[in-house]
Amino acid sequence: MTIAQLETPGLICDLDITERNLRAMQSAADAGGVGLRPHIKTHKTPALAKWQLELGACGLTCAKLGEAEVMADEAGCTDLFIAYSLLGADKAARLRALQERAEVRVSVVSLAQAEILSAALGGAPVKVRLNVDTGLDRDGMTAARAVADAQRIAALPGIELIGVFTHEGQAHKGHNFDEVKAIGRQAAQQLVDVAAALRAAGLPCDEVAPGGTPTAADLASYPGVTEVRPGTYLFYDMMCVECMDLTAADCGLRVLTTVVDLPAERRVIVDGGSKTFFNDQFASWGRAMCVEHPDLRLEKCSEEHGHAEWRGEGAPPVKLGDRLTWIPSHVCPVVNLFDEMTAVRGEEVVDTLRISARGKVR
Ligand SMILES: Cc1ncc(COP(=O)(O)O)c(C=O)c1O
Repeated sequence: MTIAQLETPGLICDLDITERNLRAMQSAADAGGVGLRPHIKTHKTPALAKWQLELGACGLTCAKLGEAEVMADEAGCTDLFIAYSLLGADKAARLRALQERAEVRVSVVSLAQAEILSAALGGAPVKVRLNVDTGLDRDGMTAARAVADAQRIAALPGIELIGVFTHEGQAHKGHNFDEVKAIGRQAAQQLVDVAAALRAAGLPCDEVAPGGTPTAADLASYPGVTEVRPGTYLFYDMMCVECMDLTAADCGLRVLTTVVDLPAERRVIVDGGSKTFFNDQFASWGRAMCVEHPDLRLEKCSEEHGHAEWRGEGAPPVKLGDRLTWIPSHVCPVVNLFDEMTAVRGEEVVDTLRISARGKVR
């Protein structure tokens, strides 16, 4: 079977491009002598997680417990990091069950959350990394707060402090790849400094883990870093193309659609709307970049209709029934909309991969 015979809309994973991306990041981690613990938030697919582990990843990162459960059960992963704040008795019970089948590290975002986690686990042992906010302004502690509270966190029943981590997603704001890397290094240095302060206070802090696709390969050789945690790198997307030295040819995941209507002079309707494309604009391309016709811009999404506007000369160069291929601006939420992706080598379909961890929000 070939791509031309596939029903649309659908996700296409180009295994040649994906393999190149996987191997390049693993090589960067190996060259820097650090662990690579990919975040599965991008692919949510056990078969791809297994591939990452076979190529040398030291373990996997997940956001939610539900994702980690899928990776333990379907990818056979025995070394997991849940980079998300866990609270409550239900989460504690599931965490303990998961610890029976894998080594699990979890995130601690504050002293208050660590107290609740420790109590919910009834003082049962759990390995934790402090989540340090190095500039993303999302979750976690400032570097100063991490240093101030680490002693009390480490003294809580069951809590075994082993390291620190950050997600330096703010690096996407860099105007070019050099600026992106500079933002990443500033974040890494904050993390390395926190780790040094903890050690100076007599606390164990062996693991120093920044993470993010644009910065990971560079930070793999940053002094003091022990692990990197990129997710998007296996596919990349238009947001990465915008801030790294990449082109669309480096992007391994595409959305395949069909032109289903040409209702107005410059309007092209494809059979994928907000249930196919994540309905938000990130990169200057809008929601996605059309591989065949970059001047066709996906302007709007209703549920089942993608409204593309032709911005080139003359009439849009498409006819009813044409296939159009799109590279998402932000690939992770697009993958989350599908049950499976079709794996291809060139034009040949070689496999169907189940996205088993999609929708695991708990
Ligand atoms: C905690 C954490 N680590 C790693 C990543 C991976 O970053 P990227 O999507 O840039 O690969 C993310 C992404 O959101 C994250 O939240």
